Amino acid sequence: MTPAFWKGKRVFITGHTGFKGGWLSLWLQALGAEVTGFALDPATDPNLFSSAQVGQGMCSIIGDIRDHAALSAALTEAKPEIVVHMAAQPLVRYSYHHPVETYQTNVMGTVHLLEAVRSSDSVNSVLVVTSDKCYENRERKQGYREDEAMGGFDPYSSSKGCAELVVAAYRKSFFDQGRRIAIATARAGNVIGGGDWSEDRLIPDMVRAFSSAQCVSIRNPGAVRPWQHVLDALHGYLLLLERMYENPGRFSGAWNFGPEDHDARDVGWIVARFADYWGDAHWQIEQDAENLHEAGLLTLDCSKARNKLNWHPVLTLEQTLAWIADWYHGFYDGADITAISSEQLALFQSRVVQ
Ligand SMILES: NC(=O)c1ccc[n+]([C@@H]2O[C@H](COP(=O)([O-])OP(=O)(O)OC[C@H]3O[C@@H](n4cnc5c(N)ncnc54)[C@H](O)[C@@H]3O)[C@@H](O)[C@H]2O)c1
Repeated sequence: MTPAFWKGKRVFITGHTGFKGGWLSLWLQALGAEVTGFALDPATDPNLFSSAQVGQGMCSIIGDIRDHAALSAALTEAKPEIVVHMAAQPLVRYSYHHPVETYQTNVMGTVHLLEAVRSSDSVNSVLVVTSDKCYENRERKQGYREDEAMGGFDPYSSSKGCAELVVAAYRKSFFDQGRRIAIATARAGNVIGGGDWSEDRLIPDMVRAFSSAQCVSIRNPGAVRPWQHVLDALHGYLLLLERMYENPGRFSGAWNFGPEDHDARDVGWIVARFADYWGDAHWQIEQDAENLHEAGLLTLDCSKARNKLNWHPVLTLEQTLAWIADWYHGFYDGADITAISSEQLALFQSRVVQ
């Protein structure tokens, strides 16, 4: 990536109060971008947004992407050149209990965002963050490629497949015509890092339990996922946006961002290794009382990003787990979380900028 590219760029991020959006906001602030964020209040307490004081170096707007007028007014006012859409209802199990909210947020929220972009005269490039779960999952070993069918068993996964179809339609109908706007989607795997306290996610579940000397219950220990550090995924997004900005025709489209093949590990492995990095941690395997379907095997073929963006994950899964344990230990020890986050960002950046 090219840090100088970002200096002074006006970037509009939806979902900046969340886990990935918080890290992206911190990174863009460090690069000297003018960042505006639009999202709901943080959903958990604690959260990254407050603990790392994400809102300090940006214009933070609290609003709902289901409110088309509010989103459009915020985007028009910010006059961004680059838009990153991350706001979503991102949880599979929650989506079984709240399917309407999930589709309203993830599908109509995306439509509202693209409508706001369509009526703006400042935007050059848009990145819509969907998910590896957007694919029709056939539980096969071979990773999914970008041109494969959209699908999704549960409401969350299907809403992300729908968001992909919405973006493809807007690209063909509006953004490839007339004033060209580059628009891409990013399908990342299970993104992990410090600062996530969401419900029903593996690392937050472990952190909540371990930090209060509780035993954590693990469902689906055999489920294989493409785990990767949040900064590896965000590095892919930034690289892609730099290329899109210069060459919209070549880089618009869908992109997978996932780990090296040997880092697609099962849940049981992650739990055992993270417990080692944490120290004095206990877990037990538990039958899922609700018996909700979750994918057993999900891997991505990321050769497009490797070949066309020269993007590769920088942190191994072992390093990823060590960085995460350090971050949360810092948090629970009362250390300066803004400083710890900045140190991890600076160290990561030194490894991707020659
Ligand atoms: N974390 C992962 O493993 C992962 C993997 C693949 C894709 N994703 C996608 O990445 C994006 C960010 O996920 P995350 O892990 O940071 O989730 P998160 O829950 O930490 O953050 C979600 C953000 O969206 C905002 N939001 C939710 N509903 C909103 C609404 N109606 N209006 C405005 N803002 C709203 C929240 O306020 C928050 O800022 C999501 O699109 C998610 O689907 C995440």
